[in-house]
Amino acid sequence: MELTIQSLTKQYGSKLAVDRFSTNLSEGIYGLLGANGSGKTTLMRMMCGLLRPTSGEVLLDGVNINDLDEGYRELLGYLPQNFGYYPDFTAWDFMLYLSSLKGLPKLTAEERCGELLEKVGLYDIRKKKIKTYSGGMRQRLGIAQSLINDPKILILDEPTAGLDPKERAKFRNIISDHSTGKIILLSTHIVSDIEYIADKIMIMKHGQLSQQNSLEHICDSINGFVWYCKVTLNEAESYRNRFVVSNLKHNGDMVELRIVSEQQPCENAVNVSPNLEDLYLYHFKEEA
Ligand SMILES: Nc1ncnc2c1ncn2[C@@H]1O[C@H](COP(=O)(O)OP(=O)(O)OP(=O)(O)O)[C@@H](O)[C@H]1O
Ligand SMILES: [Mg+2]
Repeated sequence: MELTIQSLTKQYGSKLAVDRFSTNLSEGIYGLLGANGSGKTTLMRMMCGLLRPTSGEVLLDGVNINDLDEGYRELLGYLPQNFGYYPDFTAWDFMLYLSSLKGLPKLTAEERCGELLEKVGLYDIRKKKIKTYSGGMRQRLGIAQSLINDPKILILDEPTAGLDPKERAKFRNIISDHSTGKIILLSTHIVSDIEYIADKIMIMKHGQLSQQNSLEHICDSINGFVWYCKVTLNEAESYRNRFVVSNLKHNGDMVELRIVSEQQPCENAVNVSPNLEDLYLYHFKEEA
């Protein structure tokens, strides 16, 4: 199974939200990183067939998803960025309702919904109305609904927004369990989410795919640009103004800095191995 994105473009008035985005996705978990407004949601909505591209196309095994129509939707699971509708439904009724829309037989649906609600920790409160849920609970319901049809293609737009660390860890496990033989694309600002589970990282910048590679290789691309040094409190202030500081730690009278910079920031700075957060800061220094 291969999802091909071919020069996908979306223009809103004069704003180019997605700009000739091309890539191939095969089985695996892909993490989409990008600053606010870089075009992630727009890209994902086009990949789900919910938004018509200005130009370009999305193909599944060589066939345009518009031509696959219902056949594509059957394979697809989607969590929109601002999930939260049907406030007067209970989680249980909402899940069963979506199952019927997806054409699941009633008994299968009940079993499946029970299983998924259990997985996201909502089973015990499944008979409560969604409007009484907290933000994190709604988000977990959103994750559960995206998995109803055991989708071969799963697109999750900031799935961990509003989740506490324990729920984020649980989410990663759910996704890993589901990932065999599937294409999973998830966007996030929380670097650690994809650092742990994504096979491939995509970096999106101003609507374009600026980089795509395995975690290991993508961090290699800034090898030599991450520094560690120890400076005085006074010096630290000036370094923070001049450099991208990815971490700062007070240690007695001194401050330990982790700096992302192509040039050595000071004489005693030593190179350390880059992580994904450094990479993110390197690419989005203007925003940071
Ligand atoms: N319906 C719309 N009409 C006009 N402009 C839009 C519309 N939707 C998005 N945009 C613009 O397109 C750009 C990309 O937006 P998009 O929501 O895809 O970004 P994003 O990467 O998902 O951001 P975030 O991290 O904040 O969710 C932004 O500049 C946004 O203002
Ligand atoms: Mg978005």
